[in-house]
Amino acid sequence: MPVILGGAATSSDTIMLLWRCGPNQTAPSPRHAFMSSDIKKQHRDSFTSSFGVLAATLGSAVGLGNIWKVPYLTGANGGAGFLLIYLLATLAIGLPVMIAEIAIGRRGHANPITALQTIAPHQGPWWLIGVAGMIGSFLIVSFYSEVAAWVFAYVIKALGGTLLSSDPNVTAAAFEALIQHPLRSLIWQWVVLGLIGGILTMGVTKGIEAVTKRLMPLLFLLLLVLCGVSLSLEQAATGLAFLFKPDFSRLTTTAVLTAMGLAFFKLSIGMGTMMTYGSYFKREQNIPVTAFRVMCADMAVSLLAGIAIFPAVFTFGFAPEAGPSLVFITLPAVFSQLPMGQAFMAAFFVLTAVAATGALLSLIEVPVAILHERLRISRRRATALTLTLLALPSAGAALSQSLLANTRIAGLNLFELFDFLSSNIVLPVGGIFIALFVGWVWGRNNFRAALSNDGLLANQQLANAIFILLRYISPILILLIMGKGLKLF
Ligand code: TRP
Repeated sequence: MPVILGGAATSSDTIMLLWRCGPNQTAPSPRHAFMSSDIKKQHRDSFTSSFGVLAATLGSAVGLGNIWKVPYLTGANGGAGFLLIYLLATLAIGLPVMIAEIAIGRRGHANPITALQTIAPHQGPWWLIGVAGMIGSFLIVSFYSEVAAWVFAYVIKALGGTLLSSDPNVTAAAFEALIQHPLRSLIWQWVVLGLIGGILTMGVTKGIEAVTKRLMPLLFLLLLVLCGVSLSLEQAATGLAFLFKPDFSRLTTTAVLTAMGLAFFKLSIGMGTMMTYGSYFKREQNIPVTAFRVMCADMAVSLLAGIAIFPAVFTFGFAPEAGPSLVFITLPAVFSQLPMGQAFMAAFFVLTAVAATGALLSLIEVPVAILHERLRISRRRATALTLTLLALPSAGAALSQSLLANTRIAGLNLFELFDFLSSNIVLPVGGIFIALFVGWVWGRNNFRAALSNDGLLANQQLANAIFILLRYISPILILLIMGKGLKLF
């Protein structure tokens, strides 16, 4: 019998409930589990796997960002220099903000709005970070669901066999036929959104999470195989040099902003997703160590995707700066070099679809949890309301290559606009306020207590260093990069 969750059921809390309760017991609402100390004690003891928390957090971070966004942005921004800035931004800005978000979430034990109100009551409208998070979620889901739609459609296309070609013209034509077809774009997008809505309302996230956890290692393996194939191609060295030999002359201030936005997007930070996940972290979980591991694993997947793609780009004559289409037109060429390439390609897109589904669940969970808890409506209603609110902007993104191709704002179509606004403005601004909140409102002692699990871990020095970063460095750095990148000063 599926466990129907009364509270906010994300993929991760369902895992936790499962561990706490066993499969045949009735699960309490996770919010109640946290709010009532009786239940908390009773159920926390049986939750012993810190691997579960790691896997759930990784499930949110790993997604289309790794397979689609990192390669296409790296290609469009000149390669290694961009990749290096992205790595630095991840370490210096992303990681501290991720740790801050998780710590806030675990202390606040609720959706981002309530969590911020709980840990700093009457200290200003910091809960607006949660409101901004909801808007960010809508922006991201609107275009992310369309990219997921392409991935789903590619599973079918791959099975049909027409995709398998190393001719750039053939693979590009196949991709364009998909994205320029208004009805197909819309239908595939609603297949994706309907699936996510179904998973959320039926409370079967635990099934999905279990599937994700088993399939993600397979995705990793398949990427390794692809890297092997790609590295045996004629122009492998050119591809690797593009990825790893920086040429800073090609680096613009806009590219630096893009790299920082990518760091936020990749780690799922700046809009409350990690706060929500943090609220399901167990008390003993080592937050900085978990965040660091997630970052490393996530980075590894992105690098493998890059190594799989760029040698093929140069060998077969694709354009590295092709943009969002890059992965969809290049990978079929790599698969065409593989025995049973058709089957491998179908498997690859299935696994990518699973990764995208895990990330989408964590994205949509933010508005669903907020609407469910703040408006006191059922999860089913909160999900329906979220999908209704998403209908218009996501259709805008889906039709941006066809019916709405001429609808442009500041030179960008709606898909590009949502992508740009979310990664380069909403998430970094969210990051600034999260850093300021920890640095100036929540304060050093609370932050240190949160990171050391109330004194159980000896990580005071580390906590101090992260605190200093959050209080002074991160906000200024983010602001500078945004100001320069957007040409505000
Ligand atoms: N990190 C995911 C990816 O790379 C996308 C994602 C999930 C996300 N949740 C998020 C991005 C929250 C920003 C904020 O595919």
